Amino acid sequence: TTPVRLALLGCGTVGAEVVRLLHEQAADLTARVGAPLEIAGIAVRRLGRDRGELPVDPALFTTDALGLVKRDDVDLVIEVVGGIEPARSWLVEALRAGKSVVTANKALLAEDGGALHDAAAEGGADLYYEAAVAGAIPLLRSLRESLHGDSITRVTGIVNGTTNFILSAMDATGAGFTEALDEATELGYAEADPTADVEGFDAAAKAAILASLAFHTRVTAAHVHREGITEVTAADVASAKAMGCTIKLLCIASRGPDSSGAESVSVRVHPAMIPVGHPLASVGDAFNAVFVEADAAGELMFYGRGAGGAPTASAVLGDIVAAARNHLAGVRAPSESAYAALPIRPM
Ligand code: HSE
Repeated sequence: TTPVRLALLGCGTVGAEVVRLLHEQAADLTARVGAPLEIAGIAVRRLGRDRGELPVDPALFTTDALGLVKRDDVDLVIEVVGGIEPARSWLVEALRAGKSVVTANKALLAEDGGALHDAAAEGGADLYYEAAVAGAIPLLRSLRESLHGDSITRVTGIVNGTTNFILSAMDATGAGFTEALDEATELGYAEADPTADVEGFDAAAKAAILASLAFHTRVTAAHVHREGITEVTAADVASAKAMGCTIKLLCIASRGPDSSGAESVSVRVHPAMIPVGHPLASVGDAFNAVFVEADAAGELMFYGRGAGGAPTASAVLGDIVAAARNHLAGVRAPSESAYAALPIRPM
């Protein structure tokens, strides 16, 4: 059988794990897809970097990502680089050329997902991004497909592992923010520059993606009211405790009537006190959890690992299998439902 050929853009923690899984699971994946998945090339910023023992031909590496995307022998493009540019240009190029894209790029989707959806519509290609929010947790497909017959009213989530680790440590030990952040950095949970996490930018991007899917409207990061956790003190955590609560960085997306009675959407990210009996209160460490309320389904809770190479690669692989199957069958993925353009409440 003719293989499905993949261009992999990026080979960091997630990319390397994708390469490993493609190799280790090759037989199973071939059976599931109906054809072998073959890496056509891997675009990286620097060729010389030590990537450990990757089970891949070194000749596949290139620094010319755009050239790789444009190659005739590439069927699908997998992007795990992150950031707005140059990722956006590469993905727009791929989609316009009819090549479906699997991406984990939450910042790009939240800032300019419209550009990608438009390019996909133009090229007759599909955009898959299960890995962009809450890593391994099968959440986006659930919102997009499983709950598509229902009406979601509210999504409340812990979608940033770093800040959840910090707040959980503050709650458990009475430590202040800086002390808990230092511990998170030492243990490798927080990045060298933790700004995107602790200031809530990462959670806000994820909130925008979740709200767009839940409410069939186009929410961008700019619509999200955002407050991080840098101002949360040991005293705040202690007084929350005294009230039977814990503090979590929550993303809260809801739909309902605004003050004038018009149906609209509101999306925000901020530290919030939640009663210890709430299912989200016991989500510790760097775990993620998302609580969904829908008219007919009632309350649902999604829980698992939201970050890290292997959990994120699990979601990427799931998308690759779906994309490869649809590619072979010559069918499009389930559509994201025409955007209903519900108004988004001003902050
Ligand atoms: N920095 C993110 C987190 C990584 O801490 O959750 C996953 O998106």
